[in-house]
Amino acid sequence: MQILAVAAEIYPLIKTGGLADVTGSLPKALKQFGVHTRTLVPGYPEVLAALEGSSVLRHYGNVFGVEGRLLGGRARGLDIIVFDAPELFVRSGGPYGPCGTLGYEDNWKRFAAFSWVASDIAERGLAGWYPSLVHAHDWHSALALAYLKYCGNGDIPRILTLHNLSFQGQFPARHFAELGLPDECYGADCLEYYGDISYLKAGLTSADTITVVSPTYAREIMSPTQGMGLEGVINARRDDVVGIVNGIDTDIWDPSCDPHIEHHYSARVPLRRLANRATLLKSLGLPQTRGLVFASVNRLTWQKGMDLLAGLVDEIADLGGKLIVHGQGDHAIEQLFLRAADRHPRHVAVVIGYDEALAHRIHAGADAMLVPSRFEPCGLTQLYALRYGCVPIVSRTGGLAETVIDANDAAVHARAATGIQFAPIDAGGLRHALHRAFKLHRRHRGWEKLCRQAMKADCSWARSASQYIEVYGNALSQGGLLRESA
Ligand code: ADP
Ligand code: GLC
Repeated sequence: MQILAVAAEIYPLIKTGGLADVTGSLPKALKQFGVHTRTLVPGYPEVLAALEGSSVLRHYGNVFGVEGRLLGGRARGLDIIVFDAPELFVRSGGPYGPCGTLGYEDNWKRFAAFSWVASDIAERGLAGWYPSLVHAHDWHSALALAYLKYCGNGDIPRILTLHNLSFQGQFPARHFAELGLPDECYGADCLEYYGDISYLKAGLTSADTITVVSPTYAREIMSPTQGMGLEGVINARRDDVVGIVNGIDTDIWDPSCDPHIEHHYSARVPLRRLANRATLLKSLGLPQTRGLVFASVNRLTWQKGMDLLAGLVDEIADLGGKLIVHGQGDHAIEQLFLRAADRHPRHVAVVIGYDEALAHRIHAGADAMLVPSRFEPCGLTQLYALRYGCVPIVSRTGGLAETVIDANDAAVHARAATGIQFAPIDAGGLRHALHRAFKLHRRHRGWEKLCRQAMKADCSWARSASQYIEVYGNALSQGGLLRESA
């Protein structure tokens, strides 16, 4: 089986969040089952710089008015195809916009061109390589499935993975005419979305199968509260929706040999992580006291419930706990945490920014990881926390609800508990969870058991990769013949 994955980010080349972690690690997991993935990515400067031994595989004189070419090669262990179109992708800002949440004005064109190129590779193959199916991720590549359905010969299976419904690729309807899709696509059954056009909707209506990054989120988005206006479309496709929880790369996230941390440890000797705790507190200028050390490595946004956490910082400090926050996002939320750090210099450390190495050190040193998301399609932070014995405290939603087993009495006695879950998802719910954590932490043996049990949770790709293979297999058997690579 040959997969053409299409993604706007891929770890370790370019990452803004969990999407990159998934597109970077799933191919490796699939390979163990004999499935080969090549991932089409935009030619961002970081991607071009990482390419090794690349060759030019195709030239495009004019894609949406710009010149481009396809480069094939390897980069940091990944098999990638790069759509090198400097006018679209070589910019001084981030992959989607100049800064913060602001998008580039021509994003409609950048990702339409990217998606069109994906459909071209799927249709014509590339230098003798013919993918058996196309697997697009999120709105940035969703349009590829519409190009295949409406402009191609329609025989290649189309899979869409939905990572987060709050990013939909919505643009003014005037751009429709420039997309090169037949007129019938500008309708409620394809691209049209409340008078605009939505690339994600085009993907949802054109995919043969839609996978969602957890079964719970797959259910949640069928309701108006979580469907973000697309619940009707998703409900109409409900027979083709499959929830598959994300895995993590257990080689990159491995406390027994992680190059970012000083003291290595495993589930058999989790107490060794106390040395990392000491190093972490020292590096952040916090005193070495015994109180519970909470952390949050997260986008500082409403989705992640970080405003709820900001409102409870004083209480954490008053109860003798510490809080380490590392992230970036909404300016107002950043300011709330920075002001809290000023009020409580001995209890709170805030590092605004994005630092992969620091993220690893926090997982290895903090006692508990707070993930109070209002909604969370899957979430990877809690999976890394489990792996590192940093007890996850999560809201009961989406993938968080599925991957963390709450430390209620029954689960603790059955030695199954791996963290704390809370609901309702509001300040009261989070406060209650924090108090439960303080109580459990006071019983040292109990906390140690929880930490040990967390580390035993299987967060690897093994199970989920085989579910993707099943989805691929079904799509191929329904969609016709498997196209062999020449
Ligand atoms: P989302 O993709 O919605 O942001 P996930 O939990 O799926 O949420 O993935 C977030 C990813 O980004 C994880 O790999 C996490 O470690 C990483 N991350 C988040 N904030 C930071 C940060 N400030 N520094 C480094 N890594 C971060
Ligand atoms: C999105 C979601 C997150 C998920 C990630 C990878 O960014 O917000 O919950 O883990 O994609 O699938």
